[in-house]
Amino acid sequence: MLLADLPLQINWWQTCKSTNLAAKEDFLANGYDGPKLFGSDVQTGGYGKNARPFISNQGGIYLSLVIKVPQLTGQNQGLLTTGIAWQLYETIKQELQIETELKWVNDLFWQGKKIAGILVECPAPHVAIIGIGCNLFQTHLSEELPGATNLLTAQPTTEKTCHLISNLIHHLFSFIPNFIHSDFLPQYKKHMMLLNKKVTLQLGQTTIQGRAVDLTPMGNLILETETGSRSFNAGEITRIR
Ligand code: BTN
Repeated sequence: MLLADLPLQINWWQTCKSTNLAAKEDFLANGYDGPKLFGSDVQTGGYGKNARPFISNQGGIYLSLVIKVPQLTGQNQGLLTTGIAWQLYETIKQELQIETELKWVNDLFWQGKKIAGILVECPAPHVAIIGIGCNLFQTHLSEELPGATNLLTAQPTTEKTCHLISNLIHHLFSFIPNFIHSDFLPQYKKHMMLLNKKVTLQLGQTTIQGRAVDLTPMGNLILETETGSRSFNAGEITRIR
């Protein structure tokens, strides 16, 4: 499996501010002319959901795939995000023999700490910038961000990292045209953290409490709250004990 086999333009830097930002700038300058991959060994201004910084030192994977997704709408962007998280879960399992956990909607955890995040942005209708950040082995990560950890205990070889990236992109290429069918959701739910747990959901300035009981076929989270069942297509969930 080689990235070179895919009809994909690749831009890779040693350092850049943010691959999502670079992808956006490229799209604004050139429009969409086929799928493109932007990657960097280090990001100086990587960001995640709600513009939170995403620490991106040497030893992680930081990439953004720009791709046309004809079925993508504002309503199903969350489904695409959960599906990308599932593809990353599967790739990590295949490549590193590690079973992570999925934290709806866009994070992967391992041993109770975050190891990866996904940020899907849409610079134009039906065009997705799929940003993926994964902590393979970043030195000093735990001091900088106690809530995050590394997947590996030592720096992987370049070959291993390239193989993982290549496998991930292959997974994404076969998944994205079919994401709307939500076939992955039963598997996703099996490995979903906080299912059947009491949580708070932070949605902008609003906080909602409830039990996370299920996902809808569109990947929305169903919360059983004091006032009944409600579903949400975005937000940040945290466990309450
Ligand atoms: C999150 O944790 O909320 C999502 C994090 C997404 C980080 C990736 S790293 C590659 C791409 N470039 C960025 O600036 N962000 C995404």
